[in-house]
Amino acid sequence: MFARSAARILAAPSTRFFSASAVNQTKVAVLGAGGGIGQPLSLLLKNDPLVTSLSLYDIRGAPGVAADVSHVDTGSEVKGYAADQLDQALEGVKVVVIPAGVPRKMTRDDLFNTNASIVRDLAAAVGRVSPDAHILVISNPVNSTVPIVAGTLEKAGVFNPRHLFGVTTLDVVRAARFLGEVAGVSPSEARVTVVGGHSGPTIVPLLSQNQHGKSVTGEVYNKLVHRIQYGGDEVVKAKDGAGSATLSMAYAGAKFANALLRGLNGEKGVVTPTFVKSPLFADQGIDFFASNVELGPDGVEKIHPLGELSAEEQKLLEACLPELKKNIEKGKAFVA
Ligand code: NAI
Repeated sequence: MFARSAARILAAPSTRFFSASAVNQTKVAVLGAGGGIGQPLSLLLKNDPLVTSLSLYDIRGAPGVAADVSHVDTGSEVKGYAADQLDQALEGVKVVVIPAGVPRKMTRDDLFNTNASIVRDLAAAVGRVSPDAHILVISNPVNSTVPIVAGTLEKAGVFNPRHLFGVTTLDVVRAARFLGEVAGVSPSEARVTVVGGHSGPTIVPLLSQNQHGKSVTGEVYNKLVHRIQYGGDEVVKAKDGAGSATLSMAYAGAKFANALLRGLNGEKGVVTPTFVKSPLFADQGIDFFASNVELGPDGVEKIHPLGELSAEEQKLLEACLPELKKNIEKGKAFVA
C-alpha cells in the first residue's frame, strides 16, 4: 500500500499508475549509491513498484546501503556491489542512474575534471556490459557529462541517443515549487517547462506557458527566474559549502526514473523536460538540449519544440545558447 501511494506521488499529478504485476521485469542500477544523493535515491527507487530489482554500486559503502534498503517491505530485490564489482552490478540492467562524483562547492564547472573521468569510466562499463541500458546522468556538470557519456558510447560503437538522458528534473521541481509560492497556488498547478541546460544561465524556465506564470512580471519575474536558475546555491550556502542538494535531487531523480519506467512500460503521453541529443538547435552546433520529451517503450519517443516564447524568454534563450555550446564542447573535447 505504501509503495503504491509513493508511486502515485511520484507519478502525480495527471499520470496513470501501473501496478507492479502489470509490468515487465525492470532492473535498475544506481552508480554512486553510497553518496548524499545515491542513498535517498536508492530508498525512493526501492519504493517504486515499477522497479523489480535494484543494483547498488559505489566505490565505497554500497553493500551497507543495500542491506539497509533491502529491509523495506516492497517487492523488489536489492543487491549491493563493492568497488571491484562494477561489471556484476551492471548485468541485465535496463536503467542505470548515475549520481557518482563529487558535489560542487560553489560552481558546477569546478567539478569538471573529477567528474568527467568518473562518468567516462562508468559509461564505458555500461557500454561494455549493458549497452542497451537507458542511462540517466545526474553527475554535474550535466551540460558536459551527458556529451561525455555519448562520446564514450560512440567510441565503443554502442551509442543510442534515445537511451541517454541528463536529469534536469530538479530545475522543473524547483520551478513548480517557487512559482507556486509566488502565485499562491499549489505546485501541481504551477508546472513549468524548463529548457536549455542545467547550470545558471543555461536554465530557461518557460513561465509564460503556465497560466499562473504568465502573469508574473517585472521585478517579481526577474527574481523568480534568478531563483530557478540559481536555486542550487541556496542549498550549497545553507550547507556551508559542505555539499549541494541531495534530498530534493534524490526526489527529482526518482521522479524522472518513474516517468521513464512508465514510458518503457508502454504508458502513453509521458512528457517531461530532459537534456538529450536534440535536433532543436543542432544547426547552431548545439546538439544536446533540454526540452519536453515524450518517453516511450524505447526511451526518447518524441522531442517537442519549445512552443511560443515571451520576449523575456527569448532573451534568456539567447543568453543560454552560447554558454551551453561551450559546456557541450568541453565535454566532447574531453572524450575526443
Ligand atoms: P557525494 O559525494 O555525497 O556522493 C557521490 C558518491 O559517488 C560517493 O558515495 C562516492 O563514493 C561515489 N563515487 C565516486 N567515484 C565513483 C565511481 N568511480 N564509481 C561509483 N561511485 C563513485 O555527492 P552527491 O551530493 O551525492 O552528488 C553527486 C553528484 O550529483 C555531484 O556531481 C553533484 O554535483 C550532482 N548533482 C546533480 C544535480 C542535478 O540536478 N543533476 C543536483 C545536485 C547534485
